[in-house]
Amino acid sequence: MARIELARGARRNERESNPDERAETLRGASSGALAHRGPIALLEVGASAGLCLYPDRYSYSYDSTRIDPTSGPSTVLLECETTGGPPLPTALPRIVWRAGLDLNPLDVSDAADALWLETLIWPEQTERLARIRAAMDIVRSEHPRIVQGDALVGLPALVAEVPTGVTLVIVTSAAIVYLPPDVRATFIDLVGSLDARWISNEGRGIVPAAAAAVGEAEPPEAGQFLLALDGHPLAWAGPHGQRLDWLPQIAPQT
Ligand SMILES: C[S@@+](CC[C@H](N)C(=O)[O-])C[C@H]1O[C@@H](n2cnc3c(N)ncnc32)[C@H](O)[C@@H]1O
Repeated sequence: MARIELARGARRNERESNPDERAETLRGASSGALAHRGPIALLEVGASAGLCLYPDRYSYSYDSTRIDPTSGPSTVLLECETTGGPPLPTALPRIVWRAGLDLNPLDVSDAADALWLETLIWPEQTERLARIRAAMDIVRSEHPRIVQGDALVGLPALVAEVPTGVTLVIVTSAAIVYLPPDVRATFIDLVGSLDARWISNEGRGIVPAAAAAVGEAEPPEAGQFLLALDGHPLAWAGPHGQRLDWLPQIAPQT
């Protein structure tokens, strides 16, 4: 039975069988928690199962700094080591609207999809398995809205739904790498034309402005993502959100 479910999951996710999928809570959480004050509308492009849509429902430990949701400690604790003194938030963002957009969304309420996400974790990584199960429990209870659609084609309609008087925060995490370069460039232009902030957590060459700003600099560890706000690089980020190496030469964007 499990094998049948797994095969179903694998088939549904042919395009995204990237092991980085398993890291989405950590990545989204670290960037989401660092970003903004005030009420925000959170829109993730390439949201997959929506685990990054709930940064306000997780607890965080940045070195010795602990941040919990207003309702108290979460069943999900995301731990991150930092260097370079990132301006850590004292509270989690107040999210008043949220939605995801994905070409091939997953549904944590679907047993095969949930199993697929678990399967992307190596067997010996029992802590991560427990964490993603706890995160899926949270997301399942929230019934996330994840619209099926292409990043470029689907974004304007979703943005049009955002309530007025809030800051729209668009997040892309290991997502726009899948767009062909010309489409990616058009997507970046589109995001830049919106009244929105854009948090990107992508490979170093994927957001050209951020890549140009870091130049030849190398991340402390191979394979780190470049975390950027509106195309301005902020930090090197561990691919599983496990570390954040703040870039001292770049003024934090607020
Ligand atoms: C590697 S996963 C990243 C998921 C999550 N954001 C994370 O950080 O782990 C890439 C996601 O991008 C989605 N995707 C790929 N091409 C897309 C497109 N053209 N439009 C919308 N989503 C796309 C995939 O379906 C997949 O869910």
